[in-house]
Amino acid sequence: KRHLISAADLSRDDAVLILDTAEEMARVADRPIKKLPTLRGRTVVNLFFEDSTRTRISFEAAAKRLSADVINFSAKGSSVSKGESLKDTALTLEAMGADAVVIRHHDSGAPHRLATSGWIGGSVVNAGDGTHEHPTQALLDAFTMRRRLVGPDAGIGRDLAGRRITIVGDILHSRVARSNVHLLNTLGAEVTLVAPPTLVPIGVETWPCEVSYDLDAVLPKSDAVMMLRVQRERMNAAFFPTEREYARRYGLDGDRMARMPEDAIVMHPGPMNRGMEITAEVADSDRCTAVEQVANGVSTRMAVLYLLLGGSEPAVAPQNNART
Ligand code: CP
Repeated sequence: KRHLISAADLSRDDAVLILDTAEEMARVADRPIKKLPTLRGRTVVNLFFEDSTRTRISFEAAAKRLSADVINFSAKGSSVSKGESLKDTALTLEAMGADAVVIRHHDSGAPHRLATSGWIGGSVVNAGDGTHEHPTQALLDAFTMRRRLVGPDAGIGRDLAGRRITIVGDILHSRVARSNVHLLNTLGAEVTLVAPPTLVPIGVETWPCEVSYDLDAVLPKSDAVMMLRVQRERMNAAFFPTEREYARRYGLDGDRMARMPEDAIVMHPGPMNRGMEITAEVADSDRCTAVEQVANGVSTRMAVLYLLLGGSEPAVAPQNNART
């Protein structure tokens, strides 16, 4: 495939190949020299129309570890603020020879438009578009779950069959939830969404998952619980319960975490609203994988860039002085 626009486009074989390649990439991080020559001479553009910490930095780190040149473009401070269109911005990047464009945009569908417009010749990777999808987040989440719930080596070639994943919070505005539901379903997991009725999207009954409004009932049956940020910037105040009411009914605190099975993990894509959907006690506990997810994001994004741009060469050449 040339582009990565949606987790829904990935077959089970595609997804497992990316996760297995990410495992190879993760091993590079343990070497004395953390860089591979694979994408030398290639240019990756990070085209960000919305704010980001984790995604932008980890795509930059991933591209650099593969020896690609990286151009970081942020709409803030660019000619976008003078009214320049996505098309003219894309044509400018094409003139600079972008081999891949990693795009985050506030409009759902912007990466698809870029990939199908003919404005650019390189690969397009969706780094989050509106409320639509965030496929590399779902891939790094699946990578984290496979490592934690299946085991790093035993995980190679495996999916998440039968694992019970609960996603909690602002489903309505969450591209992370959409991508995760699609990918986890493809990988054989059983997904349950838990949210206040006002934060459940219309049409959710067509999604391949269950919906519950009772977090306490679902927690004991969960292998992983993914807490989502409440995206207040995307919602009308009328839709939103008070902070205290939300935390009381849908927040994860120490007492609720104790209801989860002993080996179950707590996940969060970040950024977190500590004190709202997750307490500091839970966020800082050993069971919370939020920081591990960020580290796994670099390996996963290396795998995506490698498979889109460099697939003809071996991902990781043997290294004589590799640490064991
Ligand atoms: N999880 C995630 O997409 O974080 P950023 O918005 O910081 O990139």
